[in-house]
Amino acid sequence: MDQADSLRQLAASGRLGRPPLQVLAVTSGKGGVGKTNVSANLAVMAAKAGKRVLVIDADLGLANVEVLLGIKPRHHLGDLLDGSVPLNDVLAEGPFGIRLLPAGSGLPSLTHLTDTQKMQLISSLDAIEERFDVVLIDTGAGIGENVLFFVSAAQEAILVVNPEPTSLVDAYAAVKVFSQDGHVQKFGVIVNPVVDELSARDIFPKLTTVTNRFLKANIRLLGYVPRDENVHKAVMAQRTVVDIFPKSPASRAFSDISDRLFSMAAPEPSLESGLKFMWNRLLRESSAAAG
Ligand SMILES: Nc1ncnc2c1ncn2[C@@H]1O[C@H](COP(=O)(O)OP(=O)(O)OP(=O)(O)O)[C@@H](O)[C@H]1O
Ligand SMILES: [Mg+2]
Repeated sequence: MDQADSLRQLAASGRLGRPPLQVLAVTSGKGGVGKTNVSANLAVMAAKAGKRVLVIDADLGLANVEVLLGIKPRHHLGDLLDGSVPLNDVLAEGPFGIRLLPAGSGLPSLTHLTDTQKMQLISSLDAIEERFDVVLIDTGAGIGENVLFFVSAAQEAILVVNPEPTSLVDAYAAVKVFSQDGHVQKFGVIVNPVVDELSARDIFPKLTTVTNRFLKANIRLLGYVPRDENVHKAVMAQRTVVDIFPKSPASRAFSDISDRLFSMAAPEPSLESGLKFMWNRLLRESSAAAG
């Protein structure tokens, strides 16, 4: 399909005049490195920049984003998947007009989505894709099946990497697994939380030296977020640091990263910009593998 066809398709989908949908999955090799904070803060920055933002809490059963955004959802993904609540009512309203698809807490049934549940989720999200400019997916830790599913929907995986040398191995493993079988080719690295910027600056070149040699992945550096006590204070207040301490060191870093992601070089219009396209491709692949 050529560019003209793609544009026609976009026009037909009601997206003409607005930039193509940007789908970003926030991931990491190891847990507790700041993914949820990155997701919540980037969501607020994108919303402040005028984007219509949907956050998907994909840490199923261990919902966290709602806490950081100060949202008390009435429903969650489980209610959507068991058919008891329509998507519109499941989407919770957050600060700055952000919408959240809540993951629900303590729900073991969601820790492994079945193929039917994945299909249900895809078709529900397809129907609302036009209402958003940016979809930010906060994934759970690790490289499990649910995480792979959500990462496959993204144009770019935002890989949060801890600046300790041991985390390089985890980051490499994550790029390897996520780039395999075409799940995602594009990665943006955020190093967090940084105490010593000089040594943190080694991390990215070290990672790309190995990934460039062994993997086919396109990796860019999005930025370094300093360790900042204000992040903790913001979490305690159930607000984002960019919201309540916009001049703090971490907020400045999030602001630079957000410029890099949301205002510079908007993605080219392409069919690859839709959730529909990517998830349909994924489903085709998984049914081909099963058959
Ligand atoms: N830049 C920072 N400065 C100070 N504290 C931070 C920073 N980034 C994250 N933290 C703290 O680190 C902890 C983990 O953050 P967060 O919950 O965002 O990680 P996560 O990767 O989503 O964890 P999980 O893998 O469990 O989902 C939190 O207590 C958070 O406040
Ligand atoms: Mg988290």
